[in-house]
Amino acid sequence: MLNISRPRRNRQTPAIRNLIRETHLSTHDLIAPLFVIEGKNISEPIASMPGISRLSIDLLVRECKELYDLGIPCVSLFPAIDNKLKDQKASEAYNPNGLYQRAIREIKNALPDLLVMTDVALDPYSSDGHDGLVDPRNGEILNDATLEVLAKMSIVQAKSGSDIVGPSDMMDGRVGFIRDALDEENLANVAIMSYAAKYASAFYGPFRDALGSAPKKGDKKSYQMDYANVREALREAYLDESEGADILMVKPGLPYLDVIKTLRDNTTLPLAAYNVSGEYAMVKAAAEKGWIDNDSVMIEMLWSFKRAGSDMILTYFAKEAGRLLQKH
Ligand code: PBG
Repeated sequence: MLNISRPRRNRQTPAIRNLIRETHLSTHDLIAPLFVIEGKNISEPIASMPGISRLSIDLLVRECKELYDLGIPCVSLFPAIDNKLKDQKASEAYNPNGLYQRAIREIKNALPDLLVMTDVALDPYSSDGHDGLVDPRNGEILNDATLEVLAKMSIVQAKSGSDIVGPSDMMDGRVGFIRDALDEENLANVAIMSYAAKYASAFYGPFRDALGSAPKKGDKKSYQMDYANVREALREAYLDESEGADILMVKPGLPYLDVIKTLRDNTTLPLAAYNVSGEYAMVKAAAEKGWIDNDSVMIEMLWSFKRAGSDMILTYFAKEAGRLLQKH
């Protein structure tokens, strides 16, 4: 017998493999992003995101019930706003009776124990398609003026029943500004999940198709981060934490596992990974061609976020993965 070290001993059977597993994935780790649209009984498939549709509020509530029954604890909502309602000030964003606010109320009415996370950024409502206000004279993104709108949005969402507001806009100072605004309105129990390290990424393409929210001019590089950087992510995370964030998110997910790992090693806050639309679309496209196996790749990919150190994952695979994980 050779005198060698034998790590394979711990891989011999499913039982020993289960016993030595270092990380775990369950339905409780998943957050399902959902798209809401005006109307009744409407389900509009999104071409670049097979299996995902824009849903009218009635069908959205039904979908939430299904997710909740699978053990998924949280949904994250995004609105597809009629172009006629978009303007340069994104004023529809804080309309208390707007589509988004009605959707939050209906979900919380039907399923009070399902967590509703809401998105705080101007792009779905802005005729410019940017996350912040745009100076019409020169196209500059107006950081401090945007904060006022983000705060108004957060309050209206929280009053409609949002449990977690998620600023995805990347303006400086927004977490502290939103925290103060919520606290002043006696909304201290509403949590903030900040998109702390959000990169200017081409992986958001299908999401912008889904909402018709692509920027009309320019790109988002003056506020979203450069993919060459990781120390900068630490700085953003540190700022959001010190301003009062409850959970930090890294976005996109798959190409940024190193960023998740770096934040994991440097914060005690819970971490979320956003497995974004382009990551979903890649898997779907390759699986449709028969080049990879959808289910195995999906689960392996979701597990990589856990291994890198995220506690939770926002993923368009939530329902599919939920079903599969329930069987195991
Ligand atoms: C915008 C926002 C984006 C996503 C979530 N919020 C796109 C963008 O920044 O242009 C992308 C999510 C995805 O691709 O799944 N505030």
